Amino acid sequence: MNAVITAIGGFVPSSILTNKKISETVDTSEEWIEKRTGIKERRIADCNTATSDLASAAIENLFENYNVDRLEVEALLVATATPDHILAPTASIVCEKSGLANAFGFDMNAACSGFLYALEMGANMIESGRYSKIIVVGADKMSSIVDYEDRNTCILFGDGAGAVLLEKTESDNGLMKTILKTDGSGTSSLLVPSGGSRNPTSMQSLLHRTNYLKQEGAFVFKKAVASMSQVSQDALAKNELHAAQIDWVIPHQANLRIINAVSESLNIDSEKVKVNIDRYGNTTSATVPLCLWDFKEDFKLGQNLLITTFGAGFSWGATCLKWGVMREKKAVETIKTDTVNENVLVAH
Ligand code: UT7
Repeated sequence: MNAVITAIGGFVPSSILTNKKISETVDTSEEWIEKRTGIKERRIADCNTATSDLASAAIENLFENYNVDRLEVEALLVATATPDHILAPTASIVCEKSGLANAFGFDMNAACSGFLYALEMGANMIESGRYSKIIVVGADKMSSIVDYEDRNTCILFGDGAGAVLLEKTESDNGLMKTILKTDGSGTSSLLVPSGGSRNPTSMQSLLHRTNYLKQEGAFVFKKAVASMSQVSQDALAKNELHAAQIDWVIPHQANLRIINAVSESLNIDSEKVKVNIDRYGNTTSATVPLCLWDFKEDFKLGQNLLITTFGAGFSWGATCLKWGVMREKKAVETIKTDTVNENVLVAH
């Protein structure tokens, strides 16, 4: 028995933060950001929107577009690095907001690899035979932990969420073997230093802005390229696939130069590599499901996808999947983006 993706939903907030706007607030330029990262703009949630709102909007988009009974969903896995609260779980709030009355839910934090980790856990739950319908969400409100005075990080991140429904299939479509990796020695290179049990929020942390995300960009960049390239090759080998048999690559969207370097190392043509970092930036747990959502019409039955991620921890991994039969679609696809406001200002 395999686990297969049968429905997809996504959500990004309507407000756009452009490179031009960022260049008006920190010492950078539109050209530098686009050339060094591939990002042109990112979406930013308003101050009344939390990660659970992004996640439940993505789930709602899924239910609006596919014939699925929400009461049949048995479990909800929410991958996020920006929970609504340190306690209670975001998944509990999402279960309530999304009307998943018969599901239990829990959060998973593996930073930018969170969705891939959660997908693997969800797939294993399905393959065990104990569960038949699981929703896996990747959702992050990165604007809640980004320091908009720090040009090293504020150019990179955006807010968003993507959701997939996993179901069982007797066919050979669906998730294949996955490789997940963790190396805690990378913790200090990419983290939010304060606000957790190590350094609870204090006057000092607020003064030194250590409650915001810090990153050694160049070091993380090199690790990301090497790790995603190697783990992708290992996942291909584990699934007895050659790079030439991959129809689409869905890489974590942290930097277009990382994506290009990884696809070059795998010798996979850039036309097969899905990229939406130009529009959304790095949405952490949401990059992979947002890519699946964005490009779902391109994926055809029986095609092979390669997903690979790298993030804080460090956490990284790769999996292959054979695209299966999606659930019946409802008549009109609803894309939940309201009016676009290019003048969004992020204030903490
Ligand atoms: O998703 C989780 C994993 N995260 C990642 O994979 C992110 C990995 N890192 C990156 O994407 C890149 O390292 C960055 C985009 C963050 C930075 O790009 P870079 O090419 O690695 O730049 P750098 O840190 O090596 O800095 C090069 C120069 C420096 O100036 P000097 O010392 O050469 O004079 C920086 O001060 O670029 C400068 N710089 C900037 N200049 C204009 C750094 N940030 C900026 C900026 N605007 N925003």
